[in-house]
Amino acid sequence: MKKIFKILLPTVLVLLTFGTFTACSGNDDPTPPPAGAGQEQAPTQPDAPTPPDAPPVTGDALRVGVSMPTMDLQRWNQDGENLQRMLSERGFVVDLQFAANDVPTQVAQIENMIGAGAEVLVIAAIDGDSLTEVLAQAYEQNIPVIAYDRLIMNTPAVTYYATFDNFLVGQMQGEFIRDALDLPNQDGPFYIEFFTGDPGDNNIFFFFPGAMSILQPFLDDGTLVSPSGQTDIMTVATPGWSSENAQNRMENLIALNNLTPGGHALHAVMCSNDSTAQGVTNALINAGFTADNFPIVTGQDCDIISVRNMIAGTQAMSVFKDTRVLASNVVDMVAAIADGRAVPINNTTDYNNGVFYVPTYLSDPIVATLENYRELLIDGGYYTEAELYG
Ligand code: BGC
Repeated sequence: MKKIFKILLPTVLVLLTFGTFTACSGNDDPTPPPAGAGQEQAPTQPDAPTPPDAPPVTGDALRVGVSMPTMDLQRWNQDGENLQRMLSERGFVVDLQFAANDVPTQVAQIENMIGAGAEVLVIAAIDGDSLTEVLAQAYEQNIPVIAYDRLIMNTPAVTYYATFDNFLVGQMQGEFIRDALDLPNQDGPFYIEFFTGDPGDNNIFFFFPGAMSILQPFLDDGTLVSPSGQTDIMTVATPGWSSENAQNRMENLIALNNLTPGGHALHAVMCSNDSTAQGVTNALINAGFTADNFPIVTGQDCDIISVRNMIAGTQAMSVFKDTRVLASNVVDMVAAIADGRAVPINNTTDYNNGVFYVPTYLSDPIVATLENYRELLIDGGYYTEAELYG
């Protein structure tokens, strides 16, 4: 009982604050449900009385279940490690699981976390639409759920969301291509192909439109041309964000229009992240491109392989999303929940999960290029020289 009280009271306290926020924001989308509260509770009225401050948690350490999608991509290993270390340092008990990019595995792992007494869940979903059922259990048991990096869709059970500004990530990629090709001042045509990520990851619906918000006008006026004509988000999606799938599709596109140094020109490939960029780069190298004539390839994450590719001239940019910052924001959220303080958020209007606008904490991404990667990644202590050059 004490445990549930510790969780429920701060959650209700924070939701009362959000109820007021969203009521003032003037949008008429569904009201955030009383997440983490039982059906009888309806604490989102703007004029509901303010509950007393919850006491800080001083007794048993809070048990936090952390569910990461896969160990296959560098970033999720870093995210998992950072969360485990930072949560443990703050005295929380951590149950960290990686789900091998397999939805049933992730569902089973979350079920186990709930069964083992998790009091807060932090989840980076493999497929944002597949957790509705398992999270209904969390909702019934008043367990706050923080969606980590990827929004969890179609459930009232997600209590908070922490991520980077995903639309801005895409805009940065589009702006990089626009500026590198000087599109506003050139007639073109410049030839470009597009790659985004897994269709089950809600983030692509921010990354890709972000990039297109910059590039679409140039496609419309013919300055940019896609040789394949494939510019629709679902057509350019990459299942599992896998490098291999991206490489296969790039090889097909190369074959389709002879996109080779001696053949049809190719100036840029807009990739939404580094794992897809790496597959594209492999295909372009196999097609005969070298650093001297390499098309502009974009990415995000500053994966070690991609930073090495930037140094080698086979990827032009990445977007740095410091996983230490994201993890530390999430740890602050967990601590606020535990202490009954207001949970830090800075966005209540952009991330609708199909049920409500989820209270969100957005961090800023940073463009990484050959010019600034040393300062960002080595001076910033993210990587050692040996990791990048060894
Ligand atoms: C993350 C990216 C990552 C991609 C593939 C997205 O949800 O925001 O940083 O590259 O998943 O793992």
